[in-house]
Amino acid sequence: MPETTEEIIEHIFARFAEKGHLAYGEFVTEQQHALQSATFAERDGQPEAMVVACLLHDYGHLCHNLGEHIADEGVDAKHEEIGARQLKKWFGPEIVEPGRLHVAAKRYLCTVDPAYRAGLSPASEQSFVLQGGPMSPEEVAAFEAEPYFKDAVTLRRYDDLGKEPEMETPPLEHFRGMMHNLLANRN
Ligand SMILES: [Fe+2]
Repeated sequence: MPETTEEIIEHIFARFAEKGHLAYGEFVTEQQHALQSATFAERDGQPEAMVVACLLHDYGHLCHNLGEHIADEGVDAKHEEIGARQLKKWFGPEIVEPGRLHVAAKRYLCTVDPAYRAGLSPASEQSFVLQGGPMSPEEVAAFEAEPYFKDAVTLRRYDDLGKEPEMETPPLEHFRGMMHNLLANRN
């Protein structure tokens, strides 16, 4: 297991090198989706923690071996939990928690904001049903009680934007310094 700041960054970058080319869906790869979400957050002047949270929110997709298009087969890989379990070894909750909650944030937004659900892409609507569909009132209350629920909703908005086949972004390397700062502050 990687231990130093640089080893951790290299380990994460190696996951992107290995699996970032896989299809996220909607005509972008996992790596494009991650870079785009992070780039939208950075352009908005979000703090480094949110930018990196966006970059790594689907890290779980780079860790499992269930293959592409698993949602088409009716499988929910719980990628948000897989990713959070890995990332919390290295990063603080301000990076890990919004990602862990990003699927719940979609269910939350679909429940409290009908216009949000109407705007989901077909793939996102498909996975929404697999992920449990609308929240009950108890689930809404529990989600709003999460310490990072607002950040999770913020991340979700950038997540939803990161689906532009033609968008130009900086490379992964651009985010190394931010990751370094966050990891160094954590240690
Ligand atoms: Fe995503």
